[in-house]
Amino acid sequence: MALYSDKVMDHFRNPRNVGVIEDANGIGEVGNAKCGDIMKMYLKIEDDIISDVKFETFGCGSAIASSSMATELIKGKSIDDAMQLTNKAVAEALDGLPDYKMHCSVLAEEAIKSALEDYHKKKEK
Ligand code: FES
Repeated sequence: MALYSDKVMDHFRNPRNVGVIEDANGIGEVGNAKCGDIMKMYLKIEDDIISDVKFETFGCGSAIASSSMATELIKGKSIDDAMQLTNKAVAEALDGLPDYKMHCSVLAEEAIKSALEDYHKKKEK
């Protein structure tokens, strides 16, 4: 069996939603201390719905595929739904990741949560 699924390869080669949202109202940045990879997530939230999402990932192929898939999974969803997204759901949507690459999908979950926290903090101000 191939190490990576077709979906992982597709999202790695043609990542969706790459870039920056200039007027994002939720931004999250997380890193994995062990591998040094970094992921930044930009959310545009209107009426509690994620109307746009973009990411920048400086990391391995699995991290890029995970962030791409994660953005697809939360786009158009409510902030509550986005908060429920787990790294497992991201990996499943990619038809699986090798065990030793599961931590790359954790980065995507954490980046989204961090961006949502940033949104709530900004809203309180
Ligand atoms: Fe660092 Fe994949 S090896 S996120």
